[in-house]
Amino acid sequence: MRQLLLCLNALEGEIKESNYTRLCREKTILTVNGEFPGPTIYARKGDVVVVNVFNQGHKNITLHWHGVNQPRSPWWDGPEYITQCPIQPGGNFSYRIIFSEEEGTLWWHAHTAMDRDTVHGAIVIRPRRGTTYPFSKPHREIPIILGEWWNDDIGQVLADAISTGSDFQSSDANTINGQPGDLFACSGNGTFRLPVKHGKTYMIRIINAALTNGFFFAVAGHRLTVVGSDASYTKPFSADHVFIDAGQTVTALLKARRGRSNARHFYMASRPLATNPQATVDSSTATAVLEYVDAPAAPGDAAHGLPSLPAINDSSAAAAFTARLRSLASKGHPADVPRRVDEHMLVTVEVNEIACAPGEVCKGPHGNRFASSLNNVSFEMPRSDVLGAYYRSAVGGVARTDFPDNPPSPFNFTADDLPPELALTARGTRVKVLEYGAVLEVVLQGTTILGGDSHPMHLHGFSFYVVGRGTGNFDKRTDPAKYNLVDPPYQNTVSVPKNGWVAIRLRAENPGVWFMHCHFERHMVWGMETVFIVKNGKGPNAKIMPPPPNMPRC
Ligand code: C2O
Ligand code: CU
Repeated sequence: MRQLLLCLNALEGEIKESNYTRLCREKTILTVNGEFPGPTIYARKGDVVVVNVFNQGHKNITLHWHGVNQPRSPWWDGPEYITQCPIQPGGNFSYRIIFSEEEGTLWWHAHTAMDRDTVHGAIVIRPRRGTTYPFSKPHREIPIILGEWWNDDIGQVLADAISTGSDFQSSDANTINGQPGDLFACSGNGTFRLPVKHGKTYMIRIINAALTNGFFFAVAGHRLTVVGSDASYTKPFSADHVFIDAGQTVTALLKARRGRSNARHFYMASRPLATNPQATVDSSTATAVLEYVDAPAAPGDAAHGLPSLPAINDSSAAAAFTARLRSLASKGHPADVPRRVDEHMLVTVEVNEIACAPGEVCKGPHGNRFASSLNNVSFEMPRSDVLGAYYRSAVGGVARTDFPDNPPSPFNFTADDLPPELALTARGTRVKVLEYGAVLEVVLQGTTILGGDSHPMHLHGFSFYVVGRGTGNFDKRTDPAKYNLVDPPYQNTVSVPKNGWVAIRLRAENPGVWFMHCHFERHMVWGMETVFIVKNGKGPNAKIMPPPPNMPRC
């Protein structure tokens, strides 16, 4: 891992409250520099970017650079109460975003409560100066951020769900670059339009910033060539739609060819994937427009119809897309998959319930509260940050270091009807400690408890190889033989199927305190997360950097 201390560019961000109108209703939202979605950060591989944040809003905030590994520098990673105390209203903090191996599309977002619904933006990481893309340079690059919009204040949505332990109120619209599009009467003028010219190639950097679900995305009359996922290149493949789980990115090339229609407008659209029929989801389709600025205006001007997208519950379409992702694994972009494993973990990913306290009214399953867990531990947020405590050798004051390597008792994880007792879980702040340099394999096992769901599991501080995936229960005798150790995708967020499992591998060469959680916000609020502490190794290049002097206090 290289150490970089050069500050190549700086960005100043103000967290503000701004008025926005969507769906005919005005509300105040949190923004960065008054923009929604927020500003794009452009960098080159290996840069260090300094972001000075001034909190002019009325609530605590932190920012996270999703998918940036921050080598040895967890202080600037962002998750509240994991690596820092939040920046209080009126306060400020300077983040250093330390890019190392990442090249591709990432994004940044708030990592407090549910504020990332409006506080987010793209991160574009271009090749180092003097190097280029592993394909011809596109004419232009455009971030396409898939998101969600609530008419109600997001803080209220969260407070309502927490007060009764119920499911979350669904969003009122899905969005593309902040707008739901023409299918919503009030969005006509604001619909995102991408101007293109016939014959040119555009790189679209698609980011799923939604809080609730994965998305299918497609462009009418056009195919996409997928060239990257998260911050790494993939073997190119052509697809008529892509699937992106929450937190993930897909980089694709779009060759602008009007075809015979000579039309000027083509719709792009995103549609959610909802794998649990009991969960409340906003099923609306969001649209944006690809506009040929060099086409004759009329007649052939009638907007093309919507692109065809898989059905909202078509998890096999999502799985089929995901299965096509392969690392580029070329000379310039090698895959370096660990062959030998030091630590094995099998982690069940569960939506659960927690008993309703006496005298409380709970509106979750069976009169209890919704909860969720990893290996049946429902993570309880500490009140001050784990990183600071760990650095002062006082981690025992905030967490227990006994997160289990296996589920407490094995069961048929993906059976059709599981006994209701299995749904119960208990809270705890339990973390997993790893030796520096250990190779870790984690099998994330989906479960059908309370109907089951898919889960985009995200790890801070690392990208990992997704070496295997399958349906049903992971079988440690037969499944590892089928792993791809040659060109597996290299990601920071992996989609764990509802009735299946995925296996990821990484080298614990980044000392620090790193959060792992489901990127569905309600699952995270309910406790579907844990923390990895990677110890220092030998020598100065294997140790956590000292904290900056201005860390916010709790
Ligand atoms: Cu994109 Cu912990 O987050
Ligand atoms: Cu989840």
